[in-house]
Amino acid sequence: MERRKGESCIVDELEAFVEGHPMVRALVDAPCKSVDELLPVADAGTERGAEEGAADTKSNGHVQDASRPPAQAAAKHEEMTSSDYYFESYAHFGIHEEMLKDEVRTRTYMEAIVSNAHLFKNKVVLDVGCGTGILSMFAVRAGAKEVYAVEMSSIADYARKIFKENNMDSSITLFQGKMEEVQLPSKVDIIISEWMGYFLFYESMMDSLLFARDQWLAPGGLIFPDVCNLYLCAIEDAQYRSEKIDFWDNVYGFRMGCIKDVALLEPLVDFVPSAQVCSNPQAVLSVNLYEMQKHQAAFSVPFELEVFRNDYVHAIVAYFDVQFTHCLRPVGFETGPFARGTHWKQTVFYLDESLAMAQGDKLRGSLACRPNKKNPRDLDIAIDYSMEGEHMQVSSCMRYRLR
Ligand SMILES: C[S@@+](CC[C@H](N)C(=O)[O-])C[C@H]1O[C@@H](n2cnc3c(N)ncnc32)[C@H](O)[C@@H]1O
Repeated sequence: MERRKGESCIVDELEAFVEGHPMVRALVDAPCKSVDELLPVADAGTERGAEEGAADTKSNGHVQDASRPPAQAAAKHEEMTSSDYYFESYAHFGIHEEMLKDEVRTRTYMEAIVSNAHLFKNKVVLDVGCGTGILSMFAVRAGAKEVYAVEMSSIADYARKIFKENNMDSSITLFQGKMEEVQLPSKVDIIISEWMGYFLFYESMMDSLLFARDQWLAPGGLIFPDVCNLYLCAIEDAQYRSEKIDFWDNVYGFRMGCIKDVALLEPLVDFVPSAQVCSNPQAVLSVNLYEMQKHQAAFSVPFELEVFRNDYVHAIVAYFDVQFTHCLRPVGFETGPFARGTHWKQTVFYLDESLAMAQGDKLRGSLACRPNKKNPRDLDIAIDYSMEGEHMQVSSCMRYRLR
């Protein structure tokens, strides 16, 4: 798979955290540093390169060319907030086209909804962030009595027309506005939503889903999907690291180390060829959306990646799976290097040095993440790692900003 050049894309101590908040579960039983230790709040938003960093702006795994902003976005630049920018990015049909064409994503939602008509028949359904309305229409197809489709961005104008075009406007009511602000006619039996961002948590749309759950889901109601797991694995990635990171060590004989520092700070969103995976993939975090609380978006979890061949490790890769656990048969999808590609790709965190690892060596550490203080849709992420292997001993802490 070819790499897309030029795109780049954080609790208390773990035990106390896991005991107190069992529904964001760390899956690895190992020591772990706290979020505050790895990502001191005072640092939030002031890391090197955090403001000037990425060349692209992203929404829900969609990389857009920041050099060509929509005309109206440019005109309104001065008075727009980061929230305005976020919703503006969903106003154009192009971003929705990409999501709809992500067959792994859209077909899995279709299967989870349409193939489980016994759950949807005569039910009131809420679609959080309906976009073009595709999930709302799946719900009607599955026999829902009434669907409330909520959408903040102006793609809502098209969703309204699409519902009419498909003779579903009598079953689906569109509410154009913020989920946190709209007044629905009643509580709902089922919430459907596609809220996941890069690295699962990027974009913080999960907060809106949790709000909808607490405000509008009737007791005993269902959430589609309801479980997500975050995974890590180690990869060999010499060529790409050399082209994108080490390149700055010697640019026509000059050192540009300051840019190398910024390049290392940005996780890369890209497809990772499965042949480059050289450790066991490990599930490090499990999120249950019935119990998840907003503050749990800040977490720290331990990991222990055992390499299965002698190789150099250049990066740690994160990806997630999504599960609809109430379906008659298990329905879900994965976004990892061994699965069919999705628009979320994988998120690659380059380490500060190449690690020479022997088969059986273990890379241990903590992964911490928290929404950035200044722009909560961005994520501050830290990877604290150590390795005592046959060929080298190393320990370091890397900080990243997903923006
Ligand atoms: C990832 S897209 C999914 C669109 C559609 N459900 C689909 O599956 O194709 C998320 C949508 O939710 C909308 N959205 C995000 N947060 C929202 C909020 N708090 N209130 C209303 N809409 C929101 C965005 O504008 C975007 O259109």
